[in-house]
Amino acid sequence: TRKIIMDMDPGHDDAMALIVAASSPKLEIMAITTVSGNAPVEKTTRNARRICDLIHLQQVPIYKGASRPLLRAPEAAETIHGESGLDGPELSDNPEKTVEKEHAVDAIIHIIEHSESPVTLVPTGPLTNIALALIKEPGIAGNIEEIVLMGGGTFGNWTPAAEFNIYADAEAAKVVFESGISIAMFGLDVTHQALITPEIQQRISTSRHPAGRFVFDLLDFFMEAYKNTFRFEGAPLHDVCTVAYLIDSGMFTMEHVHVGIETRGEYTYGATAVDLLHVTGTEPNVWFAGSLQVDRLWKLIKEAVDSYEK
Ligand code: BDR
Ligand code: CA
Repeated sequence: TRKIIMDMDPGHDDAMALIVAASSPKLEIMAITTVSGNAPVEKTTRNARRICDLIHLQQVPIYKGASRPLLRAPEAAETIHGESGLDGPELSDNPEKTVEKEHAVDAIIHIIEHSESPVTLVPTGPLTNIALALIKEPGIAGNIEEIVLMGGGTFGNWTPAAEFNIYADAEAAKVVFESGISIAMFGLDVTHQALITPEIQQRISTSRHPAGRFVFDLLDFFMEAYKNTFRFEGAPLHDVCTVAYLIDSGMFTMEHVHVGIETRGEYTYGATAVDLLHVTGTEPNVWFAGSLQVDRLWKLIKEAVDSYEK
């Protein structure tokens, strides 16, 4: 099994990523750490607790993380995820699952320092917590196996040039991308291939466990949001790609390239400069996901959602 820390801002697709990860015997979730992103950190933390209640994930600790990006004002994605960060499914306002006292950044550091085998970080929100952990304790890099993240791409969804997670805290992304740690990057180029349509929604949410209903309702809201905001006939399940890669990497094609993070551009703040044609001659720092065998992904998600029934 692979030890992972899921650093997230749930988030409809973050929720799906957690549901899939928690069902896999190949992954051991050591912690869930939350961050300000789709919604303020109080809300993303409450959403993480709600998901844990739903799938009875009581043994995995939740740590609350950064309340704002390193330099910028927080950027929420209400148009996509609603005011709660997870609008759509009916959820309790007072989840049973509790939050640990320790701050997420300290938890990331202590878990990595005390782990006998290397830990993989799986960030599916802005990279603030990960950057802070690397700044506070650079030595942890030696016991990080890989950072498997959702963010960036060769085009944007928050500005024409920038994807939300990177735009929300590009300075943090710069710290992470320049850390020298092995990075697998799932950007919009690949996540827009993981497009949920009503037909796929039906296929993957047949389980009679409450998780089946939750997934169905969550996807209803998410597809509606993508229709209204981007006129998309489907919704990309961005964050799930990270977890899918950890479970079945063969469904993706990966290219070793250099990716730079733009922190200054007038039109391009938060862009990821993906050197697909190797024009910079710079040493690659990222495994960039280019394409995806999408039927393999739907099968994996369906099996994950169905597994809660047993
Ligand atoms: C990313 O931004 C968030 O809205 C999603 O959860 C995903 O992590 C997509 O740009
Ligand atoms: Ca997310």
